[in-house]
Amino acid sequence: MQTQQPDERNPIDDERYAIEEPFRYFRVGEENAGTQDLANTELLSVLPGHHYSINEKILRLEFHNFQDNNRLGQEPISINLRVDASPGCGGIVWPAGQILSNYLIRKGSKFLQGKRIVELGSGTGLVGLIAAKLGGSRVWITDQAPLLDIMQQNLSMNRLQHNCAVAELDWGTSIPATIPLPDVILAADCVYFEPAFPLLVRTLDALATENTQILFCYKKRADKRFFGVLKKRFTWAEVMDDPNRDIYSRESITLIKLSKIV
Ligand SMILES: C[S@@+](CC[C@H](N)C(=O)[O-])C[C@H]1O[C@@H](n2cnc3c(N)ncnc32)[C@H](O)[C@@H]1O
Repeated sequence: MQTQQPDERNPIDDERYAIEEPFRYFRVGEENAGTQDLANTELLSVLPGHHYSINEKILRLEFHNFQDNNRLGQEPISINLRVDASPGCGGIVWPAGQILSNYLIRKGSKFLQGKRIVELGSGTGLVGLIAAKLGGSRVWITDQAPLLDIMQQNLSMNRLQHNCAVAELDWGTSIPATIPLPDVILAADCVYFEPAFPLLVRTLDALATENTQILFCYKKRADKRFFGVLKKRFTWAEVMDDPNRDIYSRESITLIKLSKIV
C-alpha cells in the first residue's frame, strides 16, 4: 500500500481529522491516546509542555524553552485553554500556534510591549493571549462567530481582560470599529482552505500599513496558491532567528514576516 507523505495530505482531510480526533497533536499521555502521530517526531521537542485535564477539557501549556535573558531562571510562562473541537478546527491548539507563541516568548517582552496587536483566526486565542501576557498594550483575539465563546472563556480563565479583548472578524468583511490599525498582526495556521485565501489577504490589507509587523506561521498545505494571492499586496521573508526553525521546518511548518507593498 502506498503511504501518503505529510505534504501530499489533502488539507480538508487534515481539518477533518483534527475535528474527529482533536487531541492527536497533543503530547501522548494515558488520558489522550491517539496522539501517536507526533509522539515520535522531533516537533514535540519544540512544543510547550502539555497537561490536559480530560474532565475539565482544559489544556495547560507551559513554555519553558525561552532564551530571553531577562526571564532566565524564572517560572515558565503558562496558559490554560479550554479546548473543544465542536465549534470547528480552531477549537484545538495547533502546532503552528504553539510555535509562534514560543517565538514571541523567545523574543522577550520588549518586542510587544506597548504595541496594539491583532491576532487573526485565533481559535482558542492562544497566540494573542500569550501576546497579552507579554505586555501588548491592547490585544484583540479574533475569529468567526462559533469560536467567540471559547475565546471569551479562555480570556477570562487567564485574567487578561485588562489588555485583551475578543472580537468577531470574519476575513473579507469590514474591520470592526473597535479594532484600530494595529502595530503587530499575528496569524497561526490560517492557510488551509483555498476559498478563504483572497478573504484573508483582504483583511491583512485592510489592517496593515507599511509599518505593521506581521508574523505568520503556517503548515505547508495549499500554500502556493495562497502566496499567489498574497504577492499582489505583500512581500515576505522567512524568520531566520528562531533556533527551533530547523526542527519545525522538517515538519513543513514555516514562520514568515510579511511586509505590505506601498
Ligand atoms: C487551523 S485553525 C488555527 C487556530 C489557531 N490559530 C491555532 O494555531 O491553534 C484556523 C483558524 O482560522 C479560523 N478561520 C478560518 N476561516 C476564517 C475566516 N473566513 N474568517 C476568520 N477566521 C477564520 C478558524 O475558525 C480557525 O480558528
